[in-house]
Amino acid sequence: MTLLRLLNSTTFRMALIYMIFFAASVFALLVFIYWSTTGFMARQTDDTVAAEMVGITDQLRSGGVRQMISVIRRRGRTEGDGLYLLVQADGTYVVGNIEAWPSTEVDKHGWMEFEFERPTEEGPQIHRARAQVFEIENTLKLLVGRDIESRLQVENMIRNSLLWAMGIMSVLGLVGGGFVARHMMGRLDEINRTARRIMAGDLTRRISIRGSDDEIDQLAENLNAMLGQIERLMTGMRQVTDNIAHDLRSPLNRLRNRIEVALLEQDKDGSYETALRQTIEEADGVIKTFNALLSIAQVEAGALRDEMAELDLGALAHDVADLYEPVAEDKNITFTSYIAEGITVTGNRELISQSLANLMDNAIKYAPENGAMSLRVGPLEGFEGMVEMVVTDTGPGIPKEEWERVAERFVRLEGSRTEPGAGLGLSLVAAVARLHEGRLELGVGEDNKGLRASLIITKAAS
Ligand SMILES: Nc1ncnc2c1ncn2[C@@H]1O[C@H](COP(=O)(O)OP(=O)(O)O)[C@@H](O)[C@H]1O
Ligand SMILES: [Mg+2]
Repeated sequence: MTLLRLLNSTTFRMALIYMIFFAASVFALLVFIYWSTTGFMARQTDDTVAAEMVGITDQLRSGGVRQMISVIRRRGRTEGDGLYLLVQADGTYVVGNIEAWPSTEVDKHGWMEFEFERPTEEGPQIHRARAQVFEIENTLKLLVGRDIESRLQVENMIRNSLLWAMGIMSVLGLVGGGFVARHMMGRLDEINRTARRIMAGDLTRRISIRGSDDEIDQLAENLNAMLGQIERLMTGMRQVTDNIAHDLRSPLNRLRNRIEVALLEQDKDGSYETALRQTIEEADGVIKTFNALLSIAQVEAGALRDEMAELDLGALAHDVADLYEPVAEDKNITFTSYIAEGITVTGNRELISQSLANLMDNAIKYAPENGAMSLRVGPLEGFEGMVEMVVTDTGPGIPKEEWERVAERFVRLEGSRTEPGAGLGLSLVAAVARLHEGRLELGVGEDNKGLRASLIITKAAS
């Protein structure tokens, strides 16, 4: 089973393809070497035989048959691979170091190959030979040749070693490919195992990193980073869903109870009408919460990025200030504003206005009667290309350890429950700040009192 998987793996197949290409080229090379070596040796034999034939026939021409016979006799006696035989036309032996004329046919170039018995120290042996044949005036036949047994043995040896080399290479290639594939598969298997665990619900699982920083490690690192991101988003989602379920239950319950109570009572003095009015108010609140949630989601998804345009921040701030000044006055809160003129930013007008309004709304809501608040709009000191909109108040402020948390959805601090609101205002501000490549910074207000909320954005957010 595992072997089957191994053979089926991509790595193994790649290794195999590589091996086949490699083996084919080695094979071609070896065949070429074999072919050229053996060809060279065969030519050498033929050249030697031909040269000797010329030598002997020269003797015939210069000294006649007698001299030729004595030369053949002399040569035949010397140790070596040379073979000589002179016979009469009817095959009767005249002189030479082989006994009988071979029975093989002569080819059209006057060559023949045959087997003969060669006496050696270990007794007679069958050897193969190659020879040239020359006919002398229809009376004599001359054979000059060479024992090619040792040459054929060398050829054989070369051929065998080539086959062995191929065989060994194939086995090594297969084993090597198998090893590589198994190694790869082991690591991929681990990734697959982790993936299955995660799919089964264990989102905290991560792929282990070898530390070799190879491509698999990098893949694992990226997958882990992706998983981390997914987990964060999932947790965020779950929190939001929990919060929505939790925070919308009470207004809906209130709504339901009020209708029930109204129904139990008699409709006197217009109590039905009062109940219905309150119900509408309550429903409006719920709708508002949903709308706020939706816009935060939209801002966070970057869906409103397309609606970015150049806008005059000073004018925008003045508009918001004008809107909230009377509200502050109603609560006897002193409101001062310092708005720098001529700051142009690229941004979403509606979202920035809404965020600024949220900050102003908080200041008025949480500052005490006869308190004070301020709005300051201008460049962010020390940061080129960034502007800040700061709202301060003289209320209770937010403890330092809550600065991060209050920007989360539905987070409302103790003591704020009596005020209207759903805890989504600062969430929107923070989301809008991020959309404009900035941030929401909370701090302590003037004279160490109250809250200082600063919406920072980049002037030319893309
Ligand atoms: N200016 C402020 N002074 C004191 N507390 C504040 C101020 N602004 C916000 N907070 C605290 O942060 C919480 C979250 O604010 P926000 O998101 O605007 O929600 P909401 O105003 O609906 O309560 C508030 O419930 C309140 O506890
Ligand atoms: Mg608010």
